[in-house]
Amino acid sequence: MFITLEGPEGSGKTSHIPYLVEYLREKGYVVFPTREPGGTSIGEQIREVIHDLKNLEMHPRTETLLYQAARAQIVEQVIKPRLADGVIVISDRYYDSTIAYQGYGHQQNLDEVRALVNYATGGLTPDLTILLDLDVEVGLKRKKKNDEEWNRMDAHEVEFYKRVRVGYLEMVKAEAQRWIVVNSDQKWESVQEELKKVLLARIKDES
Ligand SMILES: Nc1ncnc2c1ncn2[C@@H]1O[C@H](COP(=O)(O)OP(=O)(O)OP(=O)(O)O)[C@@H](O)[C@H]1O
Ligand SMILES: [Mg+2]
Repeated sequence: MFITLEGPEGSGKTSHIPYLVEYLREKGYVVFPTREPGGTSIGEQIREVIHDLKNLEMHPRTETLLYQAARAQIVEQVIKPRLADGVIVISDRYYDSTIAYQGYGHQQNLDEVRALVNYATGGLTPDLTILLDLDVEVGLKRKKKNDEEWNRMDAHEVEFYKRVRVGYLEMVKAEAQRWIVVNSDQKWESVQEELKKVLLARIKDES
């Protein structure tokens, strides 16, 4: 089973995943966490280029293509082989982030972006995607307050992130059977409880 976590900056993806992995392992599942961009040696090198604040001149098409290069590598090197072995793969972001950020955020042609994404993934779609939904300003404040890593992708104007959130919500509407929306504007522990509940229920359904 392939599960992805999506959502705007500071919505909690990275902080929740290790606890979800531990929880599912305690339940006896074999789980492998990964993250995008990155998750492979090549992907982590591309991540550096994408995130580097020196690269402010990067064009949205360049950015889009770099993400797809990293993604193609992680799909082939990491995700597909594990799925073939029956492992549950949980990814911190996947192609929906490209539709949301490079498509809606940078306002590029959505059909073209979708075609690129399809090429990069070889058509590999998640079985379940959780949207940690949150007002973008709340998320950005959380990151600043807690001194989280601040990279080039955090340096857009707030309108950019608002378009990203609209994009996510439109994707949920268009493909409701794949998505579960969890409200991230609650205390961390409550979000964690809800995530455990929805994940376990969906995994039991699939097996
Ligand atoms: N429900 C919450 N309440 C308060 N703070 C939270 C909550 N969820 C996450 N945080 C804090 O917000 C910060 C950002 O969280 P985290 O890094 O998990 O978000 P993220 O979704 O991975 O963000 P990014 O997209 O930027 O990688 C962290 O310091 C985290 O502890
Ligand atoms: Mg993160």
